[in-house]
Amino acid sequence: MLLPFQKIVGSEEETTEVAAEFSQQLKTGDVVCLNGNLGSGKTFFVKSVCKEFLIDTTSSPSFAIVNEYNGRQKITHFDFYRLKRVGELHDIGFDEYLSEMDSIVFIEWANMFEEVLPKKYYTVEISQIDETTRQININKHE
Ligand SMILES: Nc1ncnc2c1ncn2[C@@H]1O[C@H](COP(=O)(O)OP(=O)(O)OP(=O)(O)O)[C@@H](O)[C@H]1O
Ligand SMILES: [Mg+2]
Repeated sequence: MLLPFQKIVGSEEETTEVAAEFSQQLKTGDVVCLNGNLGSGKTFFVKSVCKEFLIDTTSSPSFAIVNEYNGRQKITHFDFYRLKRVGELHDIGFDEYLSEMDSIVFIEWANMFEEVLPKKYYTVEISQIDETTRQININKHE
C-alpha cells in the first residue's frame, strides 16, 4: 500500500479489503493509531486486520482499555476513549507493551493522549459519510 493512502469505501466489505491490504505491511513492533468519531469503524478496521492474522476474538477494549490477541501474530488493542488520566495507562503497563515490541499495537482514540505515543506510528483516520460509506486515510507519522 502506497502511503499516504486515501479511499472512500461504500461497504463493510470494502473496508475489509483496505484493512487486508494494509495488514500486509505490518510487522511486529508497529503501532497503528486509529482516530474518528464514535461508530466510524475503528474497531471494525482492527477486527479486519486481526482476521488476516487468523484472530477472530477481536472486541472493543473500551472498558478494559486493552485487549490482547494471539494468532499468527500477537496483537495488542488499546482504546483510550474511557481513560481519564494518563496515569491509568502506566498502571496497565502501556510503556511495557510499547517497549517489548513483541506485538502489533493498535490504539483507538489515540489522539486523546498524543503525549504517550512513540515517535513512529501509522495513522488510520476514518470519517463516516453515511450509514455504510466511510473515508479512510492512512499515513505514516515519524
Ligand atoms: N464501510 C464500513 N466500514 C466500517 N464499518 C461500517 C461500514 N459500514 C457500516 N459499518 C458499521 O459501522 C459500525 C462501526 O462500529 P465500530 O465499533 O467499528 O466503530 P468505532 O469507531 O470503533 O466506535 P467507538 O469510537 O465507539 O470505538 C459497525 O457496526 C459496522 O458494522
Ligand atoms: Mg471502537
